[in-house]
Amino acid sequence: MAAIIIDGKEIAKKTKSEIVGQVQEMKTQGMTPGLAVILVGDNQASRTYVNSKQKTARELGMHNVLIEYPESITEQELLAKIDELNNDENIHGILVQLPLPGHINETHLIEAISPDKDVDGFHPINIGRMMTGQDAFLPCTPFGVMVMMKEMEIDLAGKHVVVVGRSNIVGKPAGQLFLNKNATVTYCHSKTKDLKEHTRQADVVVAAVGKAGLITADHIKPGAVVIDVGMNRDVEGKLCGDVAYAEVKEKAGYITPVPGGVGPMTIAMLMYNTLKSAKNHLSKLQNSNL
Ligand code: GUN
Repeated sequence: MAAIIIDGKEIAKKTKSEIVGQVQEMKTQGMTPGLAVILVGDNQASRTYVNSKQKTARELGMHNVLIEYPESITEQELLAKIDELNNDENIHGILVQLPLPGHINETHLIEAISPDKDVDGFHPINIGRMMTGQDAFLPCTPFGVMVMMKEMEIDLAGKHVVVVGRSNIVGKPAGQLFLNKNATVTYCHSKTKDLKEHTRQADVVVAAVGKAGLITADHIKPGAVVIDVGMNRDVEGKLCGDVAYAEVKEKAGYITPVPGGVGPMTIAMLMYNTLKSAKNHLSKLQNSNL
């Protein structure tokens, strides 16, 4: 039987419609959530992502600023800008689009962002809070995956989740968020021997590697949930995921398409995090006036 398609576009739309109402409400209290995006160099894919983030922030009525620098910018200049944004009352979320040019240390920049404005959820403080089950900004892509699971009412307790990929941005935090929902989690990666042996046992497979067509029907247990986080171009230049969609959708129970799956959720969750940060700021101001 063909899988149920998890419609990321639709779920993102619902999430954004909830956010827009709260942004309006916040404006009546004199605060507009503000997002600052730093883009370095001329990476075309990064520019496309950043444009999408900005467009969505505008549509939701948020204040948004794009700060662009040439590739030749120094780390020190970027750190100075982050410091300025950390102290800017109108900015609640700061995002440095990755990847950065080789002469700039990503870790230095991520750690310079105030954890209270780290709407990407990349700062070690937020990662630590996430790992210990505390309130935190969650990394947007895995957060979006969890919202999809909730919307589809997929129960995760005791389920075996196999995450393929161990990036800091997606694979590692995705496994942690599934663990927080009481799933049993296995991580697979480029050094895993016999990937299929693991994925065939999975109730949920999360593919986050960046290799078109890596996960075939042969990798999947009938009825499994298949979440495709891949963003690749096929030989014709068309966007595709890590999953061989046509064959896997005939075997899986649920599947996310690419495009229209996890991608739209990432941006929706960035907006959610920016709103959350603005709410935190507003309640701090209100408490200090008591
Ligand atoms: N590059 C690719 N994905 C992301 C993301 O979620 N956040 C940032 N800052 N850069 C990225």
